[in-house]
This record gives sequence, structure tokens and C-alpha cells, in this order.
Amino acid sequence: MRKPIIAGNWKMNKTLSEAVAFVEEVKNNVPSTDKVDAAIGAPAVFLAPMVEAAKGSDLKLGAQNMYDKDSGAYTGETSPAMIADLGVTYVILGHSERREYFGESDAFINSKTKKAFEHGLTPIVCVGETLEEREGGKFEEVIKTQVEGGLADLSADQVKQLVIAYEPVWAIGTGKSADEADAQSSCKYVRDVVKGLYGEDVAAAVRIQYGGSVKPENIKEYMAQEDIDGALVGGASLEAASFLKLLEAI
Ligand code: G3P
Repeated sequence: MRKPIIAGNWKMNKTLSEAVAFVEEVKNNVPSTDKVDAAIGAPAVFLAPMVEAAKGSDLKLGAQNMYDKDSGAYTGETSPAMIADLGVTYVILGHSERREYFGESDAFINSKTKKAFEHGLTPIVCVGETLEEREGGKFEEVIKTQVEGGLADLSADQVKQLVIAYEPVWAIGTGKSADEADAQSSCKYVRDVVKGLYGEDVAAAVRIQYGGSVKPENIKEYMAQEDIDGALVGGASLEAASFLKLLEAI
């Protein structure tokens, strides 16, 4: 039985006071981690006060990115050690916006994934095809390349621990969510790729989220699917009431 994981991805939104107010509002209503893992992927500059505000609750925090080096002359970057030291649990890696706007490759995402493990962070590795790729019949090739590239050289134990977020690029922030049967077959394909790489046990253990216009009104349909273990949610995670509704639906 895989435990559901619902994670918000705030992207580049909110101010510090709004971020802390959100935590204050949700923290006592987040379901126990026995039932569901609940997290917010927040901008790095908000993480320390958010971790502090969430203390004693079951709300976990995640970073939205990190660099793949421990320290050094990398102006403007944030190291995994810095994030881990704050008491952050997750790090979102390889989001399609980072692939598109910052040219992140599968090899770089893989390097960051390995580094995240070295520092005790749980990576949420994102994969997903563009509309053009889907319509051009390239879904399987693109997803296989991203999963194989992102997970390259990880141990079976590491793959069991991480989370894969399948987010079709055409469904992100568009309000055009994939229908649940489509999301299920895509997540199953992701699991099949993991099975081909690591075998049945690992594939059965790894948690796969669907992401792309998930909201309180449609999350139940996704969560009812066999290969969908949670959601990575952008817009609908920004308001406390909406985030709590997503969790209540589990
Ligand atoms: O990582 C979450 C994401 O990209 C989906 O965003 O706003 O469509 O839920 P949204």
C-alpha cells in the first residue's frame, strides 16, 4: 500500500507574511502523516520561517530547486546542505518550467537527485511531455528518456524512497487537466519504465503523483486511479482553504 502524497508547488508566488500566514492557517488541520504526506514546495527564501511556523504539525516543507554542488563559488545558487539544514523534507527537481526556462537536462536533474539523497532530502522528480510531443506520438519516448535519465545510477532503495511527479506540460496552469483515464495510463507507463529499470518490487513501491490543473473538484477522480499516488498542485495549493480541501479529499 503506497501512502498518498499531496504537495503544493507555489512556484514564484506570495510574500513572506502571506507564506507564514498560510502555514498558521493550515497546520492544525493537516491530516496525520499516518494517512497522507502533505507538503508545500515554497520559494527558498520563505523556507526557514515556514519550517518554524509548521513545527509540531504534520505539514512538511519542500524546496522547488537546488544546485548539485555542496558549496562554493556559484553565485545565486542554493545548496542541498543549506536546504536540508533548515529542516526541509522534500525538493522538487526537474519541473517542466525549469527544463523549459532554465534549460535543465536529464543529466543535471539526475545529478541533483543524487545530491538530494546525500543530504537526506526526498526528491520529487518531475517528468512530462509537451502537447507537441504528445500529438507527434512521442509520449513514450519522451517519458522513458526523462525517467531513465533522471533516475540513472540510483540504488533500488533510493528509487523506492523518491517521488515521481508526472505532469503533462499542456495541463500545467491551463485549467485543461488530463482526464483521469489518461492520467492513469500515463502514470502506469511511468511505473512500467521504473519496472523495466529496477524490477517489480521497486515499481510497486515508488510513489507517482499526477500534476496539472488538479483542484479540490477533481482530485478524487485522480486519487481513485491505481497508479496515481498523489498530486503535485500549483494554483490550487496557493489558498489555505483550497489546499485543505485537497487533503480532505484523500
Ligand atoms: O508543479 C505543479 C504544477 O506545475 C501544476 O500547476 O497550477 O496546473 O496545478 P497547476
